[in-house]
Amino acid sequence: MNTVKYLAMKPCCRLLKPRFFGFSSPKRQCSFSKNSTNSNQNRTYLSQPSGNLGAQCVVDHTHKPFRRQYTSWGNSRIFLEKINGGIVRNDNCFAVKALPHIRNKSSRTEAGNEKNPENVYGRGGIDVKPLIEKIDKEENEYKENKDCKAVGEVDNVNIESSVSSSEDEAVSTRGVGKEAEKEAWKVLANAIVTYCGSPVGTMAANDPTDTQPLNYDQVFIRDFIPSALAFLLKGDKEIVKNFLLHNLQLQSWEKTVDCFCPGQGLMPASFKVITTPHEDGKEEERLDADFGESAIGRVAPVDSGLWWIILLRAYGKITGDLSLQERVDVQTGIKLIMNLCLSDGFDMFPTLLVTDGSCMIDRRMGIHGHPLEIQSLFHSALRCSREILSGDEGSKNLVSVISNRLSALSFHIREYYYVDIEKINEIYRYKTEEYSTDAKNKFNIYPEQIPKWLADWIPEEGGYLIGNLQPAHMDFRFFTLGNLWSIISSLSTPKQNQCILKLIESKWDDFVGSMPLKICFPALEYDDWRIITGSDPKNTPWSYHNGGSWPTLLWQFTLACIKMGRTDLAWKAVNLAEKRLPAEHWPEYYDTRNGKFIGKQSRLYQTWTVSAYLTSKLLLENPEKASLLFWEEDYDLLEICVCALSKSGRNKCSRDAAKSHILV
Ligand code: GLC
Repeated sequence: MNTVKYLAMKPCCRLLKPRFFGFSSPKRQCSFSKNSTNSNQNRTYLSQPSGNLGAQCVVDHTHKPFRRQYTSWGNSRIFLEKINGGIVRNDNCFAVKALPHIRNKSSRTEAGNEKNPENVYGRGGIDVKPLIEKIDKEENEYKENKDCKAVGEVDNVNIESSVSSSEDEAVSTRGVGKEAEKEAWKVLANAIVTYCGSPVGTMAANDPTDTQPLNYDQVFIRDFIPSALAFLLKGDKEIVKNFLLHNLQLQSWEKTVDCFCPGQGLMPASFKVITTPHEDGKEEERLDADFGESAIGRVAPVDSGLWWIILLRAYGKITGDLSLQERVDVQTGIKLIMNLCLSDGFDMFPTLLVTDGSCMIDRRMGIHGHPLEIQSLFHSALRCSREILSGDEGSKNLVSVISNRLSALSFHIREYYYVDIEKINEIYRYKTEEYSTDAKNKFNIYPEQIPKWLADWIPEEGGYLIGNLQPAHMDFRFFTLGNLWSIISSLSTPKQNQCILKLIESKWDDFVGSMPLKICFPALEYDDWRIITGSDPKNTPWSYHNGGSWPTLLWQFTLACIKMGRTDLAWKAVNLAEKRLPAEHWPEYYDTRNGKFIGKQSRLYQTWTVSAYLTSKLLLENPEKASLLFWEEDYDLLEICVCALSKSGRNKCSRDAAKSHILV
């Protein structure tokens, strides 16, 4: 199609009046415009603070109709100079062909002549030699000091995770581990994607033998989180800062799915660097984001913005550099995400209502509604925002809305999502069709819903948060990420946290087996599989999202274990993974009930498999850093909830009441 015609037909978005929290949060509606210039004139877009990001590296009139408008927010060149830390781009960022080591490698076809996975120097798009040399140096230091602590290990650790059994476990596997770690760092470095000469993220998978990478050559927001933590814990903050800022830039992108415009605060699921030849032997680079409009099934990346906020906080915590989160444009980015999540709808619950496949499980798996994973990430993002948002007048209302939502959300999850043998017995004897505000069976759950597997399977000790709760519907499947992240962010009570880990321990073969960790348990089989997944051939029972085992969940498991003083469990899982992952080329996921086989359609050299392993090791070796990444109970929040309940005459309003009522 002719470019000009196409542009003229492209839908555009008009701004409506700002609404929330006294903060300029434009709502938009779609309209078709024959003339993009005219529609630009209609735009009174967010008054963007000076110093905000320019839109892109290369001015590209054909890609998105409104791009140039954004450059008026700030000067793209200033932005590049700032984030590149000295890599000055005086033009609009042309990558010079003669310098292949700074070229983007996100497009697999361009890396066609680099089939050898051993050839790591420069493959990832930047010169990784210094990183590899650093690893070699540390390995030598380790060899010379075999009886001493590992490099980077700390003396004074104030949390339980330094118990001697963990130390022993660590030492006993250190030989194998060092080799695995060394290879992992190389694979990770190799996956780095650069934009305008600077590292901006890591591609999802980087298997040189894969001829059909689909979108696995892109930088996924959720996939980059363990990579980011590995880099930060290793002392490399540049790539993380660039990633955060570039995604911020993409957040304000004009995005359309057919003729509809998703909310302005939406962060992309992934992005890639597009390189196109330019005159004078140069190449142009631009970032191309996917907000779900190209994704299989057109799934909404609800988790991306939540992860972005979580990473932003982690960046400040680990580096001590708070200047990034204090930037006006960054504060604006947080507010946009929060506004999107907190906007009024028809909801009756404080949980976030989403469509199927809006998180790590990005295919139809019956997780529409109020899936636990989204709730736990939402909870963390709320806690991060409450911490990070500046206390000025412009944020005051928003912070108070956040606090109220946090209280209601944790109350709701603690009360209604947590099950153990006792609770299941209670549900088993539920009366139904109760009409009143103090109904016991509030969601009208029919006891027949208790699945057969659960009654036999649930142990005497331990418990977990169910996968989803809707009217007359409890999804009793165990979803690992949501449960682990609830422990990490203190969404569940301290006692519930303990019980979740206890359950994982007592059902080790089900959750871990031959490879940590099952994404959910159990798998959907027979008619359930047919009806709930829509007969998805990728999500067959005990494969992929349907009960497959995902090594990337290792880092979250490790963090949860460190928080709960159970590093023995984390080491057990890490040791298991370490024995197989490098030998089997870092698969994306494993199949079968026990996690024995490499997944049928699993990618190899899957970056978040590699970085989750590295991050787990780094966290175990630096527990004081790990403690920066989790949250403890916040009694102020509990108090808000108890006070709210007391207004309806159900409880006394005090901090003690909060403790006794909510800390089961
Ligand atoms: C798969 C996973 C998703 C991940 C993506 C890239 O689609 O389900 O969670 O982000 O691959 O690795």
